Amino acid sequence: MNAKQADKTVIKVDNLRREFKVAEAKEGILGSFLNLFSRKERIVKAVDGITFDIGIGEFVGYVGENGAGKSTTIKMLTGILTPTNGSVEVAGIIPYENRIENAFNIGVVFGQRTQLWWDLPARDSFDLLRAIYRLPQERYERNFRELTEALDLSKLLTVPVRKLSLGQRMRCDLAASMLHNPKILFLDEPTIGLDLIAKDAVRKFLKFINHTRDVTIILTTHDMEDIEALCERIIIIDEGTIAYDGSTEKLKQDHIHTKILEVEFHDYNPELENLPMLEVIKSEANKKWLRYNLDGTSMHDIISTLFRDYCVKDLSIHEPKVSDVIKAIYKNGGMERASVND
Ligand SMILES: Nc1ncnc2c1ncn2[C@@H]1O[C@H](COP(=O)(O)OP(=O)(O)O)[C@@H](O)[C@H]1O
Ligand SMILES: [Mg+2]
Repeated sequence: MNAKQADKTVIKVDNLRREFKVAEAKEGILGSFLNLFSRKERIVKAVDGITFDIGIGEFVGYVGENGAGKSTTIKMLTGILTPTNGSVEVAGIIPYENRIENAFNIGVVFGQRTQLWWDLPARDSFDLLRAIYRLPQERYERNFRELTEALDLSKLLTVPVRKLSLGQRMRCDLAASMLHNPKILFLDEPTIGLDLIAKDAVRKFLKFINHTRDVTIILTTHDMEDIEALCERIIIIDEGTIAYDGSTEKLKQDHIHTKILEVEFHDYNPELENLPMLEVIKSEANKKWLRYNLDGTSMHDIISTLFRDYCVKDLSIHEPKVSDVIKAIYKNGGMERASVND
C-alpha cells in the first residue's frame, strides 16, 4: 500500500443503517390458515449504524458471522440497496443515487453467484463487458493480457462457464470484475467453497492488484486465513454493528500475548481474590474463563495458587487464534468488545 495515498479517504460510511421488514409467519396448520388473513411484520436491523473511512489502496477484511450484515453493507456500497438511514460515499459518489456512475469506479465479485453468462465462454462475457464499459480497444487488450496472465486463464477462456470448476470460474469472475480497471474492488465471500489451491490463486491475485494497481479492496469472508494472508486492517461486524475496527496485527498481538484458563471448581464459584492478575471474562455455574497476560506472573505460579487456595476440579489452557478471538467477540458482546477496542 502506498502510505501517502492511504491518507486519502475513498470510502466514507457514516452511521449507515438498513432495515428489512419481514413477515412473521405463524406455525402449524392453524397458523398457515391465519397467515392468510393477518401477518405481523417484524423489522430486521441488518446494518445498524456503522461508521468507517477507508483510504486509497487499503485492503480491509470485513468479517462477521452469518447474518451479521456483511452482504447488506456491500450491497449499499455498490448501489444495489438504498440505506434506511445514514450516508455512504464511494469515490465521491453516492452509490444508490448514481449506480451506473459508481459501477465505473468499482469491481464487484459475489462468491455465491457469477456475473458471467452461464452458457458462453468467459471470453464472450469479457467482450460484452468491454462494450458495456465502452473500453477503448487498446486499453482493453492490454488489461485483458495482464489479467489473463495473472490469473492463468488462457486455457479457460473458450470453455462455456458452466463447464468450469468453481475455482476456475472464480478466476474468470475476478478478471471480469477488473476488466474496466476499477480503483475499488468489493468481494463478498470470494473463496467460499474453494479448495486450497484455488484459494491460493485468488489470494495471490488480490495481493497482486492491491500492490501493483493500488486497488482499494474490501473483502468479506468467513475464512480467517484469507484475512491473515491479505488484510492489514479488519472490521468485525456483529449483529449490524462494528465490534472491532483496527489492525489485524494488533488484534492478533493483543490476544496472542494472552491465554485463556478454563477452570472448573468443585462445588461453588469463588471470587479469586488471591489472583488479581487474572481477568474474569466469563463465569457460569462452577466454571470461570480467565484471561491471563503472558507478560505477568508465571503460569506455573498461577496454577499452583489456584490449586492451593481454591477447590479446582479441572483446568485447561486455551491459546487463542484470530478466529477464536473473533468468535469470542461475537459470543460475549460488550465484554470482549471493550478489551479489543481500547
Ligand atoms: N432482502 C432481505 N429481506 C429480509 N431480510 C434480509 C434481506 N437481506 C438480508 N436480510 C437479513 O439481514 C441480516 C443481515 O444479512 P446479510 O447482510 O446477508 O448478512 P451476512 O452477509 O453477514 O451473512 C440477516 O438477518 C438477514 O436475514
Ligand atoms: Mg453474506
